[in-house]
Formats: sequence, C-alpha cells, structure tokens
Amino acid sequence: MRVPVSLVNAFQNDFEPILADFLIKSQLIDLNDPLENKRYLTRSIAPHVKGFSELFNRKEGTQTDGIDHEDYWSEGNAKNKRLAYLLSFMPPNLFRVASVWAELHRLGFQFPKIEGEFRGLEFGAGVASGACGILAGEKFAPIGLPENGSFALIEQSKAALQMGANWFDHLADRYGMTYKSRSFHRRVELNQPWLPKTAPQFHLMVMSFFLNESPLTPEAIALELLKTAENHLEQEGLMVIVEPALKLQSRKLLLLRKALIEKIKGGNSSLKILLPCLGEQACGALIKEEDWCHEEVDWMRPKYLRELDLLTGLDRRTLPFSYLVIQKTNRSLNELFGNFEGLNEERYRLVSPSKSLSKRTSEFFMCGQDGKRRTRFTNEDKNHPERGDLLQNVKLHGEHSLTQIDSATFKKYE
Ligand SMILES: C[S@@+](CC[C@H](N)C(=O)[O-])C[C@H]1O[C@@H](n2cnc3c(N)ncnc32)[C@H](O)[C@@H]1O
Repeated sequence: MRVPVSLVNAFQNDFEPILADFLIKSQLIDLNDPLENKRYLTRSIAPHVKGFSELFNRKEGTQTDGIDHEDYWSEGNAKNKRLAYLLSFMPPNLFRVASVWAELHRLGFQFPKIEGEFRGLEFGAGVASGACGILAGEKFAPIGLPENGSFALIEQSKAALQMGANWFDHLADRYGMTYKSRSFHRRVELNQPWLPKTAPQFHLMVMSFFLNESPLTPEAIALELLKTAENHLEQEGLMVIVEPALKLQSRKLLLLRKALIEKIKGGNSSLKILLPCLGEQACGALIKEEDWCHEEVDWMRPKYLRELDLLTGLDRRTLPFSYLVIQKTNRSLNELFGNFEGLNEERYRLVSPSKSLSKRTSEFFMCGQDGKRRTRFTNEDKNHPERGDLLQNVKLHGEHSLTQIDSATFKKYE
C-alpha cells in the first residue's frame, strides 16, 4: 500500500513537538524536553516497550492466543507502562489507521454527507491510536469527514482511556479540527452485544489491534460484530479494522472476513466488505495453510522513535498490518470508488512486493476472484505496478503457480 507523501512526511518533524507538548501540558512527565532525553528513554521507557513487544508477539504461547491480561495496563510501574505505549506503539498504530484512510482517498472514496453531528467510535481504544489515526488520515489524505464531531472511546482500562481521551482532544486541537472525545470505561464481551440497545448509531467505527486480544474464534466474533454494524452503524457508515501482520493473527482476520461474507450472503444484510480485496471474492491466501496476507507502509518515524527503536532492538521503519474496511451501503463498488471507473471482475491486486527481474519484467503475487497467483508482467513502458496496485483489463495465461500477464492496465498513485 502506498500512502501520499504528505502523510509519510507528517511524522518526521511535526509530530514530535505535538506529542512532547502534550506530555508536558498534561504533567505526565516532569522534564523539559522528555523526548530528547536519552537517559529517560533508556531507563523509564525502553524496558516497558520490550515487555509490551513480547506480550503482543506472544513470546510465551502461540500467536492465536488471546491476551488475557484484562489489566495489563496497570501491572508494575503503570504510569511508565502507559507512557511507553503512548510513545512507542501509539504513533505506528495511528499511522497504520491513517494509511487505510489514505487508501480510501486513493480509490476516490467520498465520506457520505451527514445530517447532524458526526459520531465516531473506537473499540478497545487504549490511548486512542485508532481515533487519532482517522484525524491524521483526514488531515493528510482527506475523504471528506465533517469538520466537527465526536469520538466515543470504549476501553477497559480507565487510566489508558483517560490518557487516550486527553491525547485525542490535544491532537484534534493541534490539527485544527473541532473534534471531542467521549470516554466509556467498560469491557466489551465479544460474544454478547457490544453496545447497549440504547446506544446511538455511529458514522464510523474503528478497531485497532483490538480483536486479536480475544481468545474467541473468528466465527464467534463475526456474529456480534455483524449485529453491532447492522444495529449501530448509520446507513453509509464505515467500519475500519486494523490488526497485526503476524501470520496466525492475520489469518484469523482473513477467517473473520470469510465468516462475515458467509453471514452477509446468507442473510438480509446491507453490509459490504470493501477492502482490502475490493469485493467479497473468496480469499486466495486461505487456500494454503502456510499463507497469509498483509500490507506494509513506509513512513518517516519521529526522531525520538528512531532512538527508541535503537534502544529496544525494534525496527519500525516500515509498518506491516492486516486490515478490513466494511460499509453499510447498497451502492456498488463502482459508485463508491470514483477513481476506478469500470471496476470489473477481471481485476487483480498486488499482495506482495514487486521483484524486478529485468528492466521490463517484474514478478509478484496478485490476488483476484479466483485466488492468489505468482505472476510475471512484462511492461514495455518500464512502468511496474507495486504492492497494493490494482490491475484491470487483465489478459493472462498459465497456472496459479506461474502466470504470465499478456496485457493489463493500472493506475499509479497520484
Ligand atoms: C493493543 S491495545 C490497542 C490500543 C489502541 N487501539 C491502539 O491501536 O494502539 C488493545 C486495547 O484493547 C483493550 N481491550 C482489549 N479487550 C477489550 C475488551 N474486551 N473490552 C474493552 N477493551 C478491551 C485493551 O485494554 C487495550 O487497551
């Protein structure tokens, strides 16, 4: 997935002062220049970053395990743990969500016009990385979100929620957007209704690195997720789900997509799964057990995060993730994605990096209505498609194990 330069560059220099200012103003750190203070990062932050990283990567256990730490936010030095999450995991997750927004922007998606006030919601908000990612997405790759509105943040940790609500309000203010957070301290039981019957409908629901913490099967999660969307998304409302790129967790998201499609097709639903596949075709990555599908985006990390990566041995130069975008709509993909007129069944999407075999020939994996194919493409004008690009009007020959494209059209990012 490629994101616009404006978004890539928004974090290199401009983000750090906004974050540092938040830390000082909220009296979270008693230092003048906390993010420039190597001793502080080394002693108070880096050890907790490593601990979180081991937990999220399921160092002890398997990737499919849930994270059954109802209160992992409050064990040990809770204040430094929250700060470590805010400094180290929030910006990358924020950027991942903003990248999904940028993908909608690239495809020409327009956020529907809204009567009254815009209502957004983030489930498992933690420090509000997902909601803040929407703000950043809209600022640097807009799709027409209203200029003001509110974001409900639902989170089981009171302290993380409070930090997240304050951070969201601060970022909205700095981005010149009239958005306010609303905090809801509660645990969502994913096999029961996620929202009370009396909750309103929302125009946007976001989940960022939330579902993988549940030990439930994708099929069990699909049931209530679908009901939540049916009952609490406004008509034309969107649901954005971002999850880890790790093989088993990513496959769980693909299985969730499959279960949702089965339920949508078997019922009377007006939900559509838009992205990443531009449609509801069978998932090519589920055919082989060792396969999975994820995205990767490049960004320019804030300087302090480069330092923190050096201290912890993590590498966040590129950000992998898996994602889904769902919409409650009766409109067709052609109507929704204005930049890809004439989307037809003969479309394919690059789901791997593109390896250059010669000046004119590249090799990659692409996914279409009939699954995933290893593909070679010789293009006379030396213009090569890249990961996430959409190929249309494709003429091809050969097997899934090695396909040759005879001709195709694709649109480069603008
Ligand atoms: C890895 S963090 C992600 C936080 C934030 N969305 C982000 O992207 O950085 C997962 C969050 O979900 C919360 N969470 C997990 N399961 C939950 C549940 N069932 N109900 C409410 N919050 C939950 C956790 O407390 C944690 O704050």
